[in-house]
Amino acid sequence: MKALELVLRNARVATAADVFEADIGIAGGRIVQIGQQLPAGVREFDVAGRVVTPGGVDAHCHLDQPMTPPVRMADDFDTGTRAAACGGTTTVIPFAAQEKGQSLRAAVQDYHQRAEGKAHVDYAFHLIVSDPTPKVLNEELPALIREGYTSFKIYMTYDDLKLGDGQILDVLAVARRHGAMAMIHAENADCIEWLSKRLEAAGRTAPRFHAHSRPMLVEREATHRAIALAELVDVPILIVHVSGREAVEQIRWARAHGLSVFAETCPQYLFLTAEDLGIDDSYHGAKCVCSPPPRDKSNQEVIWAGLNDGLFTVFSSDHAPFKYDAPEGKKPGGEEVAFRHIPNGIPGIETRLPLLYSEGVLGGRMTLNKFVELTATNPAKAYGLHPRKGTIAVGSDADLVVWEEREFVLSNSHLHHAGDYTPYAGQRLRAWPALTLCGGEVVWDGAFHARAGRGRFLACATPSLLPQRQLSN
Ligand code: URP
Ligand code: ZN
Ligand code: ZN
Repeated sequence: MKALELVLRNARVATAADVFEADIGIAGGRIVQIGQQLPAGVREFDVAGRVVTPGGVDAHCHLDQPMTPPVRMADDFDTGTRAAACGGTTTVIPFAAQEKGQSLRAAVQDYHQRAEGKAHVDYAFHLIVSDPTPKVLNEELPALIREGYTSFKIYMTYDDLKLGDGQILDVLAVARRHGAMAMIHAENADCIEWLSKRLEAAGRTAPRFHAHSRPMLVEREATHRAIALAELVDVPILIVHVSGREAVEQIRWARAHGLSVFAETCPQYLFLTAEDLGIDDSYHGAKCVCSPPPRDKSNQEVIWAGLNDGLFTVFSSDHAPFKYDAPEGKKPGGEEVAFRHIPNGIPGIETRLPLLYSEGVLGGRMTLNKFVELTATNPAKAYGLHPRKGTIAVGSDADLVVWEEREFVLSNSHLHHAGDYTPYAGQRLRAWPALTLCGGEVVWDGAFHARAGRGRFLACATPSLLPQRQLSN
């Protein structure tokens, strides 16, 4: 028996299935024993009375993703994974994005260079496929899937990324044949363009009109179409960042018809509304410009219901950080621009878990098991990282969070990202990680313990949520 390097004593261990009292013994970066009265470790923490959950798996975040100058993401792998660790997230899956005309392999190589030696927590990559040429479809994508890049995102909006329906069918066929998880950003690009032009012509250019240009209808239509395309190919899909009722109804319809449609939602659809984009023409609303936009209070309730009844598989941050008061951020080139030119996305990698733990678990809206399932176990299963990640079990990585219940009002000064704001400022929180362990190392205990390069790249297996039949034909 290996000597225990670290023991968490008297933990209230929470997994997606159980909550029980136990000691957790750690050696070689892994959990090696779970039981009562474990032998002494070289180092010990008595966490009596504290809940211990698996480290969070943030399966949708954008770090140092190449942008068109002067716009630049606020967080790279250093600051982004620092913030993740301080908020209890120990695995991140950002996106290696293919530019049109670029080889997918080159995009992956470039992204490895951006991550190399910088990450404080473990990381895998999703791919973004924006140019599905025959070479990408027949050679690059199948090879990359075999090498551990087993998920990719495709877009139905954004001029530089969007695919047409025929291209989507082609890419979904590759997912089916080679066993990959296809993530879909579902918003109808032509409707958005048409609405945006009309708003602009009417002088309605303030940030709040971003929400007017992307009503739920455009998300509903694209979600419906994505489901139909996946049905045609007979492949599971995962609809990302679902914002409200109309997309939820489409996904429920698909499930009722026996289709394998997974869904993701994010904090902005629980804690923000369209009013956060502004009730007047003030530019401050730019801080909350993201797509799809936040909806209203009644839609927040639809999202809470979907989190609890199994409609949603994963809860991710969609951290896409841009500084507010900066020429490389929400004011491109130093200007207050029309809504359609405001970089899309908001920061949230550090606040994802504390927000859901505070309002969901401690607010009585969600069980602790559900919290673990949505924030760690299911993301690990959806993207081929389970059981190494996403659970507390013998043999799993010792990625753990010890929770402390304390009330405070959130402000950006609490956070460790490189951004100059949080859209959740003013939110009353009831809990924050007291301790985050990554591979058995303390990365956060009220202070951040930096070791850039500690985080390792993870090659992903075939997602266990995908049916095995997919692999045989
Ligand atoms: O507005 C958002 N969500 N920005 C990030 C990119 C994306 O589509 O997820
Ligand atoms: Zn998206
Ligand atoms: Zn995103």
